Amino acid sequence: MAHPLEELRDAALHEIESATDAQALEAARVRYLGRNGSISAWGDRMKTLDAEERPVVGRLLNEVRNAVTAAIDQRTEKFRSRQESDSLAKIDISLPGTPHERGSLHPLTQMLDRGIQIFRRMGFALADGPDIETEWHCFDALNTPPDHPARNEQDTFYLPDGRLLRTHTSTVQIRAMQAALPPIRVIAPGAAYRRDEVDATHSAQFHQIEGLYVDENVSIADLKGTLEFFMHELFGADTAVQFRPHYFPFTEPSLEIFVKSKALKRGEQWIEVAGSGMVHPAVFDEVNKVRGDDAYDPDKWTGFAFGLGMR
Ligand code: PHE
Repeated sequence: MAHPLEELRDAALHEIESATDAQALEAARVRYLGRNGSISAWGDRMKTLDAEERPVVGRLLNEVRNAVTAAIDQRTEKFRSRQESDSLAKIDISLPGTPHERGSLHPLTQMLDRGIQIFRRMGFALADGPDIETEWHCFDALNTPPDHPARNEQDTFYLPDGRLLRTHTSTVQIRAMQAALPPIRVIAPGAAYRRDEVDATHSAQFHQIEGLYVDENVSIADLKGTLEFFMHELFGADTAVQFRPHYFPFTEPSLEIFVKSKALKRGEQWIEVAGSGMVHPAVFDEVNKVRGDDAYDPDKWTGFAFGLGMR
Protein backbone atom coordinates (compact mmCIF):
# COMPACT_ATOMS: atom_id res chain seq x y z
CA MET A 1 0.00 0.00 0.00
CA ALA A 2 1.30 3.42 -0.89
CA HIS A 3 2.28 5.77 1.90
CA PRO A 4 -0.06 8.79 2.25
CA LEU A 5 2.89 11.01 1.29
CA GLU A 6 3.25 9.13 -1.97
CA GLU A 7 -0.44 9.61 -2.64
CA LEU A 8 -0.04 13.32 -1.96
CA ARG A 9 2.88 13.40 -4.35
CA ASP A 10 0.95 11.71 -7.15
CA ALA A 11 -1.99 14.04 -6.68
CA ALA A 12 0.30 17.05 -6.70
CA LEU A 13 2.16 15.91 -9.83
CA HIS A 14 -1.11 15.30 -11.60
CA GLU A 15 -2.41 18.72 -10.67
CA ILE A 16 0.80 20.41 -11.77
CA GLU A 17 0.77 18.55 -15.06
CA SER A 18 -2.79 19.60 -15.80
CA ALA A 19 -2.40 23.23 -14.69
CA THR A 20 -3.15 25.35 -17.76
CA ASP A 21 -1.78 28.66 -16.56
CA ALA A 22 0.52 30.26 -14.02
CA GLN A 23 -2.30 30.98 -11.55
CA ALA A 24 -3.40 27.34 -11.43
CA LEU A 25 0.20 26.33 -10.92
CA GLU A 26 0.69 28.82 -8.09
CA ALA A 27 -2.52 27.55 -6.43
CA ALA A 28 -1.17 24.00 -6.53
CA ARG A 29 2.13 25.12 -5.05
CA VAL A 30 0.40 26.85 -2.17
CA ARG A 31 -1.87 23.86 -1.58
CA TYR A 32 1.00 21.37 -1.32
CA LEU A 33 4.16 23.26 -0.45
CA GLY A 34 2.85 26.49 1.08
CA ARG A 35 3.21 27.16 4.80
CA ASN A 36 -0.07 25.38 5.46
CA GLY A 37 0.28 23.02 2.49
CA SER A 38 -0.53 19.37 2.85
CA ILE A 39 2.99 18.18 2.14
CA SER A 40 4.47 20.79 4.47
CA ALA A 41 2.15 19.55 7.20
CA TRP A 42 4.15 16.36 7.29
CA GLY A 43 7.08 18.31 8.61
CA ASP A 44 5.20 19.05 11.83
CA ARG A 45 3.87 15.54 12.01
CA MET A 46 7.43 14.13 12.14
CA LYS A 47 7.72 14.87 15.87
CA THR A 48 4.79 12.56 16.60
CA LEU A 49 6.31 9.57 14.82
CA ASP A 50 8.14 6.64 16.37
CA ALA A 51 11.90 6.83 16.50
CA GLU A 52 12.41 4.12 13.87
CA GLU A 53 9.68 5.46 11.55
CA ARG A 54 11.04 9.02 11.62
CA PRO A 55 14.10 8.64 9.34
CA VAL A 56 12.14 6.60 6.79
CA VAL A 57 9.33 9.14 6.56
CA GLY A 58 11.84 11.97 6.74
CA ARG A 59 13.63 10.68 3.67
CA LEU A 60 10.35 10.11 1.85
CA LEU A 61 9.19 13.62 2.74
CA ASN A 62 12.39 15.03 1.24
CA GLU A 63 11.98 13.03 -1.94
CA VAL A 64 8.35 14.05 -2.32
CA ARG A 65 9.11 17.71 -1.68
CA ASN A 66 11.94 17.65 -4.22
CA ALA A 67 9.87 15.90 -6.87
CA VAL A 68 6.98 18.33 -6.51
CA THR A 69 9.27 21.37 -6.47
CA ALA A 70 11.05 20.15 -9.62
CA ALA A 71 7.74 19.56 -11.38
CA ILE A 72 6.58 23.09 -10.53
CA ASP A 73 9.84 24.59 -11.76
CA GLN A 74 9.62 22.67 -15.00
CA ARG A 75 6.01 23.69 -15.59
CA THR A 76 6.86 27.33 -14.77
CA GLU A 77 9.65 27.30 -17.33
CA LYS A 78 7.29 25.85 -19.91
CA PHE A 79 4.77 28.64 -19.33
CA ARG A 80 7.53 31.22 -19.55
CA SER A 81 8.89 29.98 -22.85
CA ARG A 82 5.39 29.59 -24.26
CA GLN A 83 4.62 33.19 -23.33
CA GLU A 84 7.84 34.30 -24.96
CA SER A 85 7.17 32.51 -28.22
CA ASP A 86 3.58 33.78 -28.20
CA SER A 87 4.75 37.36 -27.91
CA LEU A 88 7.42 36.80 -30.57
CA ALA A 89 4.79 35.34 -32.89
CA LYS A 90 3.07 38.73 -32.89
CA ILE A 91 6.16 40.40 -34.34
CA ASP A 92 6.23 40.65 -38.10
CA ILE A 93 9.90 40.30 -38.86
CA SER A 94 9.32 41.26 -42.47
CA LEU A 95 8.43 44.82 -41.43
CA PRO A 96 11.17 47.42 -41.87
CA GLY A 97 13.00 48.32 -38.66
CA THR A 98 12.96 51.66 -36.88
CA PRO A 99 15.45 53.77 -38.78
CA HIS A 100 18.24 55.47 -36.86
CA GLU A 101 18.97 59.02 -37.76
CA ARG A 102 22.41 59.22 -39.28
CA GLY A 103 24.77 61.88 -38.09
CA SER A 104 26.82 64.08 -40.37
CA LEU A 105 30.03 66.03 -40.19
CA HIS A 106 29.92 69.44 -38.53
CA PRO A 107 29.35 72.23 -41.10
CA LEU A 108 32.70 73.70 -40.13
CA THR A 109 34.44 70.40 -40.78
CA GLN A 110 32.68 70.13 -44.13
CA MET A 111 33.85 73.62 -45.12
CA LEU A 112 37.42 72.96 -43.98
CA ASP A 113 37.46 69.67 -45.89
CA ARG A 114 36.19 71.29 -49.07
CA GLY A 115 38.70 74.12 -48.75
CA ILE A 116 41.56 71.70 -48.16
CA GLN A 117 40.55 69.62 -51.19
CA ILE A 118 40.63 72.65 -53.46
CA PHE A 119 44.09 73.72 -52.32
CA ARG A 120 45.41 70.19 -52.54
CA ARG A 121 44.38 70.07 -56.17
CA MET A 122 46.60 73.13 -56.66
CA GLY A 123 49.54 71.36 -55.06
CA PHE A 124 49.41 72.79 -51.54
CA ALA A 125 50.57 70.42 -48.81
CA LEU A 126 48.99 70.29 -45.38
CA ALA A 127 50.99 71.72 -42.51
CA ASP A 128 50.13 72.05 -38.89
CA GLY A 129 51.36 73.42 -35.59
CA PRO A 130 50.33 73.84 -31.95
CA ASP A 131 47.37 75.95 -30.80
CA ILE A 132 49.48 77.14 -27.86
CA GLU A 133 52.25 79.19 -29.41
CA THR A 134 55.22 81.33 -28.59
CA GLU A 135 54.84 85.05 -28.93
CA TRP A 136 57.69 84.93 -31.41
CA HIS A 137 55.88 82.60 -33.83
CA CYS A 138 52.65 84.53 -33.54
CA PHE A 139 53.97 88.09 -33.73
CA ASP A 140 57.72 88.77 -33.83
CA ALA A 141 58.49 86.44 -36.71
CA LEU A 142 55.59 88.00 -38.56
CA ASN A 143 57.05 91.49 -38.42
CA THR A 144 54.49 92.62 -35.86
CA PRO A 145 55.93 95.45 -33.75
CA PRO A 146 55.91 95.17 -29.93
CA ASP A 147 53.26 97.89 -29.59
CA HIS A 148 50.91 96.45 -32.22
CA PRO A 149 47.30 96.38 -30.90
CA ALA A 150 46.87 92.66 -31.81
CA ARG A 151 49.39 91.82 -29.08
CA ASN A 152 47.24 93.55 -26.52
CA GLU A 153 45.84 91.45 -23.70
CA GLN A 154 42.45 92.76 -24.71
CA ASP A 155 42.79 90.85 -27.96
CA THR A 156 45.05 87.91 -27.24
CA PHE A 157 44.84 85.14 -24.65
CA TYR A 158 48.18 84.87 -22.84
CA LEU A 159 49.22 81.95 -20.66
CA PRO A 160 50.98 82.64 -17.35
CA ASP A 161 54.26 81.39 -18.86
CA GLY A 162 54.14 84.01 -21.61
CA ARG A 163 52.96 81.73 -24.37
CA LEU A 164 49.61 82.43 -26.01
CA LEU A 165 46.72 80.93 -27.93
CA ARG A 166 47.58 81.61 -31.55
CA THR A 167 45.56 84.47 -32.96
CA HIS A 168 45.99 83.17 -36.50
CA THR A 169 47.48 80.06 -38.11
CA SER A 170 50.16 82.21 -39.78
CA THR A 171 52.34 80.71 -37.04
CA VAL A 172 52.38 77.50 -39.06
CA GLN A 173 53.81 79.32 -42.07
CA ILE A 174 56.78 80.35 -39.94
CA ARG A 175 57.18 76.80 -38.67
CA ALA A 176 57.01 75.47 -42.25
CA MET A 177 59.83 77.81 -43.32
CA GLN A 178 61.90 76.85 -40.29
CA ALA A 179 61.50 73.19 -41.22
CA ALA A 180 61.93 73.16 -44.99
CA LEU A 181 63.82 74.81 -47.80
CA PRO A 182 62.01 76.75 -50.51
CA PRO A 183 60.14 76.31 -52.75
CA ILE A 184 57.23 75.54 -50.43
CA ARG A 185 53.52 75.52 -50.89
CA VAL A 186 51.53 74.78 -47.73
CA ILE A 187 48.16 75.39 -46.18
CA ALA A 188 47.50 75.49 -42.46
CA PRO A 189 43.89 74.79 -41.53
CA GLY A 190 43.03 75.01 -37.85
CA ALA A 191 41.68 76.89 -34.88
CA ALA A 192 42.70 80.39 -33.87
CA TYR A 193 41.74 82.40 -30.81
CA ARG A 194 40.92 86.02 -30.14
CA ARG A 195 39.04 87.70 -27.33
CA ASP A 196 35.56 88.46 -28.60
CA GLU A 197 32.06 89.19 -27.37
CA VAL A 198 30.40 85.81 -27.73
CA ASP A 199 27.16 85.88 -29.69
CA ALA A 200 25.41 83.81 -32.35
CA THR A 201 28.10 84.51 -34.95
CA HIS A 202 31.16 85.24 -32.78
CA SER A 203 33.21 83.20 -30.39
CA ALA A 204 36.68 83.32 -28.94
CA GLN A 205 37.64 80.40 -31.16
CA PHE A 206 37.34 80.45 -34.92
CA HIS A 207 38.86 78.51 -37.79
CA GLN A 208 41.13 79.51 -40.61
CA ILE A 209 42.84 78.13 -43.61
CA GLU A 210 46.04 80.03 -44.05
CA GLY A 211 48.45 79.39 -46.87
CA LEU A 212 51.94 80.20 -48.03
CA TYR A 213 53.60 79.87 -51.40
CA VAL A 214 57.30 80.68 -51.75
CA ASP A 215 59.18 80.19 -54.97
CA GLU A 216 61.22 82.14 -57.50
CA ASN A 217 59.23 84.80 -59.30
CA VAL A 218 56.00 84.37 -57.40
CA SER A 219 53.99 87.48 -58.13
CA ILE A 220 50.80 89.12 -57.03
CA ALA A 221 49.23 87.73 -60.21
CA ASP A 222 49.78 84.23 -58.78
CA LEU A 223 48.12 85.29 -55.55
CA LYS A 224 45.09 86.67 -57.36
CA GLY A 225 44.80 83.71 -59.73
CA THR A 226 45.07 81.15 -56.95
CA LEU A 227 42.56 82.80 -54.64
CA GLU A 228 40.11 83.69 -57.39
CA PHE A 229 40.14 80.05 -58.48
CA PHE A 230 39.61 78.97 -54.89
CA MET A 231 36.62 81.28 -54.41
CA HIS A 232 35.02 80.10 -57.65
CA GLU A 233 35.48 76.47 -56.66
CA LEU A 234 34.10 77.04 -53.17
CA PHE A 235 31.23 79.44 -53.84
CA GLY A 236 30.44 78.78 -57.51
CA ALA A 237 31.67 80.01 -60.88
CA ASP A 238 29.37 83.06 -60.82
CA THR A 239 31.03 84.38 -57.66
CA ALA A 240 32.48 87.88 -57.96
CA VAL A 241 35.87 88.35 -56.31
CA GLN A 242 37.36 91.68 -55.33
CA PHE A 243 40.82 92.52 -53.96
CA ARG A 244 41.05 95.67 -51.88
CA PRO A 245 44.25 97.25 -50.59
CA HIS A 246 44.81 96.66 -46.89
CA TYR A 247 47.54 96.53 -44.27
CA PHE A 248 49.13 93.52 -42.55
CA PRO A 249 52.55 93.76 -40.91
CA PHE A 250 53.72 90.52 -42.53
CA THR A 251 52.76 91.24 -46.14
CA GLU A 252 53.50 94.07 -48.55
CA PRO A 253 51.43 94.84 -50.50
CA SER A 254 48.45 93.48 -48.60
CA LEU A 255 45.00 92.76 -49.94
CA GLU A 256 41.68 91.94 -48.40
CA ILE A 257 39.51 89.61 -50.42
CA PHE A 258 35.79 90.16 -50.78
CA VAL A 259 33.25 87.94 -52.51
CA LYS A 260 29.70 88.40 -53.68
CA SER A 261 27.94 85.10 -54.28
CA LYS A 262 24.45 83.70 -54.64
CA ALA A 263 25.68 80.74 -52.59
CA LEU A 264 25.96 83.01 -49.56
CA LYS A 265 23.06 84.26 -47.48
CA ARG A 266 24.02 87.88 -48.01
CA GLY A 267 24.17 87.23 -51.75
CA GLU A 268 24.02 90.87 -52.91
CA GLN A 269 26.60 92.13 -50.42
CA TRP A 270 30.36 92.10 -50.61
CA ILE A 271 31.67 89.92 -47.80
CA GLU A 272 35.24 89.99 -46.57
CA VAL A 273 36.50 86.42 -46.54
CA ALA A 274 40.29 86.57 -46.42
CA GLY A 275 43.43 88.56 -45.93
CA SER A 276 46.39 88.13 -48.22
CA GLY A 277 49.55 89.69 -49.54
CA MET A 278 53.12 89.29 -50.71
CA VAL A 279 55.38 88.03 -47.94
CA HIS A 280 57.24 90.94 -46.35
CA PRO A 281 61.05 90.65 -46.74
CA ALA A 282 61.35 91.25 -42.98
CA VAL A 283 59.57 87.92 -42.41
CA PHE A 284 62.13 86.11 -44.56
CA ASP A 285 64.94 87.89 -42.72
CA GLU A 286 63.59 86.81 -39.34
CA VAL A 287 63.21 83.20 -40.50
CA ASN A 288 66.78 83.21 -41.83
CA LYS A 289 67.99 84.55 -38.51
CA VAL A 290 66.59 81.62 -36.53
CA ARG A 291 67.52 79.13 -39.23
CA GLY A 292 71.04 80.47 -39.17
CA ASP A 293 71.29 80.45 -42.95
CA ASP A 294 70.17 82.42 -45.96
CA ALA A 295 67.68 79.86 -47.26
CA TYR A 296 64.91 82.44 -47.63
CA ASP A 297 67.02 85.12 -49.28
CA PRO A 298 64.48 87.87 -50.07
CA ASP A 299 66.44 88.82 -53.16
CA LYS A 300 65.97 85.34 -54.56
CA TRP A 301 62.59 84.24 -53.28
CA THR A 302 59.20 85.82 -53.24
CA GLY A 303 55.96 84.47 -51.92
CA PHE A 304 52.36 85.14 -51.17
CA ALA A 305 50.38 84.32 -48.06
CA PHE A 306 46.72 84.34 -47.25
CA GLY A 307 44.33 83.59 -44.43
CA LEU A 308 40.71 82.61 -44.88
CA GLY A 309 38.33 82.86 -41.98
CA MET A 310 35.97 79.90 -41.68
CA ARG A 311 34.38 80.83 -38.32
N1 PHE B 1 46.83 86.31 -40.52
C1 PHE B 1 45.82 87.20 -41.06
C2 PHE B 1 44.59 87.15 -40.15
O1 PHE B 1 44.47 86.25 -39.37
C3 PHE B 1 45.41 86.80 -42.44
C4 PHE B 1 46.53 86.93 -43.42
C5 PHE B 1 47.34 85.85 -43.68
C6 PHE B 1 46.76 88.10 -44.08
C7 PHE B 1 48.36 85.92 -44.57
C8 PHE B 1 47.78 88.20 -45.00
C9 PHE B 1 48.57 87.12 -45.24
O2 PHE B 1 43.76 88.01 -40.22
